[in-house]
Amino acid sequence: MRIEKWVVQEHADGVPDVERMYRKVVEELDVRLAADEMLLRTRYVSVDPYLQGIALDTPIGDHMGADAIMEVMEAGPDARFAVGDLVQGFAGWRSHLVSNGAPRLWQTGTFPMVFPAFRRLDPVDYDEALPLSTALGILGGPGMTAWGTVEKFLDVRPGSTVLVSGASGAVGSLVGQLAKHRGARVIGTTAAPEKAAWLWELGFDGVLLYRDGDAPDRLEKELAELAPEGIDRYFDSLGGVLTDVVFGMLAVESRVAVCWQWASQVGGDWVGPRLLPLIMFPRTTIRGVFSLEWFTEENWAALRRDVGALVRGGELTYRQSVHQGFDSIPAAYRALYLDRAASRGKVLVEL
Ligand SMILES: NC(=O)c1ccc[n+]([C@@H]2O[C@H](COP(=O)([O-])OP(=O)(O)OC[C@H]3O[C@@H](n4cnc5c(N)ncnc54)[C@H](OP(=O)(O)O)[C@@H]3O)[C@@H](O)[C@H]2O)c1
Repeated sequence: MRIEKWVVQEHADGVPDVERMYRKVVEELDVRLAADEMLLRTRYVSVDPYLQGIALDTPIGDHMGADAIMEVMEAGPDARFAVGDLVQGFAGWRSHLVSNGAPRLWQTGTFPMVFPAFRRLDPVDYDEALPLSTALGILGGPGMTAWGTVEKFLDVRPGSTVLVSGASGAVGSLVGQLAKHRGARVIGTTAAPEKAAWLWELGFDGVLLYRDGDAPDRLEKELAELAPEGIDRYFDSLGGVLTDVVFGMLAVESRVAVCWQWASQVGGDWVGPRLLPLIMFPRTTIRGVFSLEWFTEENWAALRRDVGALVRGGELTYRQSVHQGFDSIPAAYRALYLDRAASRGKVLVEL
C-alpha cells in the first residue's frame, strides 16, 4: 500500500527550520499484519513545541513522531482494537501505520520515557461542542497537562495571584481559565499584542507582553503593577529572564510548576538555577510537571467530565488552529515557533 510520511533528514538546534529538517517520503507499506497488529489511517496529527526535542532524538531517516488520532482500517485476530475504532497514540507524521499499539520506550538525550499504549476514543464522548480533534487538545495531552497541574499540584485558592507564561497556547489558555474558575486573579503572558485581546476575552485579569530577549527592568516594573502582592502560583513554560524576574516576586508559600523552558530548550540558555536563594524566604515549592504521570483511564474520564462540563456550560472556551492536509504538517509545526500571531490555542493538522 502506498503511504506518505515526513522523515527527519537533519538535526538542527534552536528554532526548527522545517525546510532543512524534514523530507516527505512516499513508500510502499507492507500491510501483512501479525496477529496483534493493526493497519491505522491517520485522521489528525498534533504539532507540539516538545517535538523540537523529539526531532533531535530521532535517528536520521526515521519518521517524525507525534501524537495522532487514527482509525483502524484492518486488525489481526488478537489486536487491541477492532476495525472502525478510533484511537489516539504516538503515531507520528505519517498517513498510515502498522502497529500493535503497545507502549513504546523513547530514549531521549536526557531521560528515557515511555509513550503510553494507544487508547480507544469513544465517539459518544465527542460532539459539536467538543469534536474528535479535541482528543489532541483540550481533552488530550495539553488538556491533561493543564488540568493535572491545576488539580494535583498548584492548589489555586480564591484571591491568589496566578501567573501563566505562554498563556495563549493550548496548555496556558486552559491553566488560566481553570485558575480563574477557582477564584484566582490570573495574569498571562503573550509575545503578540494582537493576542492580548483574546486573553482578556478568556477572563485573564492582566496581560504581560513578553518575548525572549526582553529586558528584565520593564518586566519587573509591569509585573509589580500587575501583581502588587507578589505571585502565589506560577505556571511556567518559557523560563529565561521572565522566570528570573518572577523568582524575585514569589509570595509566601508560593508554588511554581515547571512545564517547559523555552529559553533553555530552544533558546540554548542552559544556565543553572542560580536564583534558588530567592525561594528560601517565601518557602516556595517548585515542581516539574510531566503530563504522562496523569495519563490514567480515571484521569481521562475526570478531564472529560470536569473540563467537558465547563465547556458545554459556557464557562470555559478553547480555540483550535486546524491546518489542512498532510503536506501542511511542517508548516503547522513551524507556526508554533514563527508565524505565531495567527495561532490561538491548540495547533493541529487534519489529514
Ligand atoms: N511538561 C509536560 O508534560 C508538557 C505537556 C504538554 C506541553 N508542555 C509544554 O508546555 C508548553 C505549552 O504547550 P502548548 O501545547 O500550550 O504550546 P503552544 O500552544 O505552542 O503554546 C506555546 C506558547 O508559548 C508562547 N511562546 C512561544 N515561543 C515564545 C517566545 N519565544 N517568547 C515568548 N513566548 C513564546 C506562545 O505565545 P505567544 O505566541 O502568544 O507569544 C504560546 O502561547 C510547551 O512549551 C510544551 O512543550 C509540557
